[in-house]
Amino acid sequence: METVTTSAVVRERVRGWHREGRRVAFVPTMGNLHPGHVSLIEAARRHGERFVASIFVNPMQFGPNEDFAHYPRTPREDQRMLSTAGCDLMFMPEVAEIYPYGSERATRVDVPGLSRILDGEFRPGHFEGVSTVVAKLFHIVEPDVAVFGEKDFQQLAVIRRMVAELCMPVEIVAAPTARDADGLAMSSRNQYLTPAERALAPKIYATLQAAANRVRAGDAEFASIERSGLQALENAGFRLDYFCVRQAADLGAPAPEARELVVLTAARLGRARLIDNVQVSRS
Ligand code: PAJ
Repeated sequence: METVTTSAVVRERVRGWHREGRRVAFVPTMGNLHPGHVSLIEAARRHGERFVASIFVNPMQFGPNEDFAHYPRTPREDQRMLSTAGCDLMFMPEVAEIYPYGSERATRVDVPGLSRILDGEFRPGHFEGVSTVVAKLFHIVEPDVAVFGEKDFQQLAVIRRMVAELCMPVEIVAAPTARDADGLAMSSRNQYLTPAERALAPKIYATLQAAANRVRAGDAEFASIERSGLQALENAGFRLDYFCVRQAADLGAPAPEARELVVLTAARLGRARLIDNVQVSRS
């Protein structure tokens, strides 16, 4: 695996592969990789022949009081994990490579609507930072396919919408959420949990599953399902941003005829803000 820091070299490598007729798959990340990220590379293997991963802690998607400065950075371990997973190229740019004129006044890509609800309500500007950096990375890498985790369900929806509306020639593939044995969705931010908090954290997935089971069984009292989920987690000691049942396709409030739904939550525990979701089909 080659490690590069400049857009020019990434472009040269990928264009070389394209000239050879290879399909190129891309996995954008912020590093501090865990098996959830590695599962995206494995999903990418089913869709491409050459693999690029980026490691870039994107300042634009962090709010002023969020953890940008403290976000865990482990480049050596990341390099080892990507190489073992069969990645061909690791792109690890400096901030100035991605934001040559600074991130504050950079040209932006915004997906209004989808970016303002749920997490967007609690993290103003977050999804604008995500869509902007992913658009830039797509222009640098020029992948045929890019893989995103369902763990960040709203992020995936924002990216799909951006790609559709801006006619970007890249296929978006979703990969399932990788979990620890007790159900907790893997996340770099799980490291912020104390042992006692870590023991409590699987309650998030259990509560989402309980809500999804009610939906699956035909219960359409979504307000009551949301209230129960919120209460259960708050009673257990979490501070909830939201606990919502939405349509999977557009994250809107469920229409009576909607079949594909998703239960999503964002719960704060100690220093960590944890998000998770469970998709559910009803007949
Ligand atoms: P990051 O949090 O590093 O996640 C990179 C990718 O890994 C995302 O597509 C995310 O959904 C996926 N991922 C994280 N945890 C996962 C898990 N437990 N199971 C499956 N997939 C998981 O998401 C970002 O970075 C950034 O916002 C980024 C898209 C790179 C833009 O900066």
